[in-house]
Amino acid sequence: MHFTFGIIKPDAMENRAYGKILDDIAMAGFQLAELKLVKLTEEKAKNFYSMHEHKPFFDELIRYMCSAPVLCFVLQHEENAVEAFRALMGDTDPKKAEKNTLRAKYGKDITANAVHGSDSEESFMREWKFFFKEEELLFNK
Ligand code: CMP
Repeated sequence: MHFTFGIIKPDAMENRAYGKILDDIAMAGFQLAELKLVKLTEEKAKNFYSMHEHKPFFDELIRYMCSAPVLCFVLQHEENAVEAFRALMGDTDPKKAEKNTLRAKYGKDITANAVHGSDSEESFMREWKFFFKEEELLFNK
């Protein structure tokens, strides 16, 4: 089994698209291995996105990620969970994302793009540990 980490972001929480997003994720063959509602502090958001610290969009990204609670989750998939979930999400920019991807369907713009997903195995290991404890995971890694 393979795993990836994801977040349903503030825009999709505030407009209540989170139910449809979780449904799309389940229908695409992913199983939830963990799920948690989190209100990010500025410090925690800055730490999570520290690799983007010097990018021009960083301040806006942090403000946005702290603007409402988010749903953090670990997903299990038969194979290539990281790549499979990235394909389901689509391009970072919802306007460029392929039809039927989560960001095309539920994202507003390049900042408020509905979902986050780990971009590699290394990111997955860092990101799930950022939000969950080993003993919280419902499936063995
Ligand atoms: P995410 O996959 O969570 O990773 C970094 C986030 O920064 C990205 O999704 C977007 O929400 C946000 N972002 C805003 N502007 C840009 C940009 N120009 N390029 C990449 N990410 C951006």
